[in-house]
Amino acid sequence: MAPGYKAGAFGHQRTGEQGRLRALEDLWDPFTEHYLRQAGVPTTARCLEVGAGSGSVARMLARICPSGDVTATDIDTRFFEELAAEERITVLCHDVTQDGFPADSFEVIHARMVLCHLADPAQVLAAMAEWLRPGGLLLVEDLDLGPADASPHPVMRQGLHVAERTLGVSQGSDLRLGRRLQALVTDGGFTLGGMGVQPVMIGDGGPADEFWRLSFAQLRDFQARNSSPLTGELDAALSMIDHPGFTDLGMHAVSVWGRKPVQPTG
Ligand SMILES: C[S@@+](CC[C@H](N)C(=O)[O-])C[C@H]1O[C@@H](n2cnc3c(N)ncnc32)[C@H](O)[C@@H]1O
Repeated sequence: MAPGYKAGAFGHQRTGEQGRLRALEDLWDPFTEHYLRQAGVPTTARCLEVGAGSGSVARMLARICPSGDVTATDIDTRFFEELAAEERITVLCHDVTQDGFPADSFEVIHARMVLCHLADPAQVLAAMAEWLRPGGLLLVEDLDLGPADASPHPVMRQGLHVAERTLGVSQGSDLRLGRRLQALVTDGGFTLGGMGVQPVMIGDGGPADEFWRLSFAQLRDFQARNSSPLTGELDAALSMIDHPGFTDLGMHAVSVWGRKPVQPTG
């Protein structure tokens, strides 16, 4: 059993983690906002943001729902504590695998890049279905690192595979969960609303480059602390990002939304 998120390479106590989470927000927030609006979020909605990270989606939900409210949770709330001062945002230290909410508490639940780090995402989706009101909206988003397998750049292919193994071993993460996300949502009893898949490049000068730089650097430090021989692969991939003329498809960003049926199924 992996030691868990807090002990892994991307625990919040790691130097640079907030910057890495902000880079993730820069690259993914436009997709999240697009899908929230496409799915349709009432301006009065009670929203739950699970694993809020550095807090941008909690802020986004508060903006989209000017007459609603937002509960922003994480196992470590240090990077968005300041949101507690906002009138319609509650900040809560909450482990989604262990801590609950009363049934039917929310009209919208969102979780991005959280399920992929959990040992049993299906169990967490079942809990979310309970916390959601009938007809309520679930939007879950995760990555699929599958494109790494077909990378024509051996250095990047190896770097991404080392990244995947490092996170799998250190914190039990599944960096291909995005590929299974739609099945998890429908198997969890939600009525599928829609799905979007966005390619995320490396090396094209776009918003993802900083995310990859900081991710490789942090994984490299983690491996170095553990005296691992894999630091070389991570260093090589890191320097490749800014190599003139280099671009690659790093991953797909997968977003799936669905609704809790108004009448229970079955
Ligand atoms: C990769 S970050 C994503 C942050 C944010 N959702 C985003 O996309 O910008 C994963 C987040 O999930 C949180 N997390 C991990 N395990 C959790 C758990 N069991 N319950 C709640 N949050 C968790 C981490 O602390 C971290 O903030």
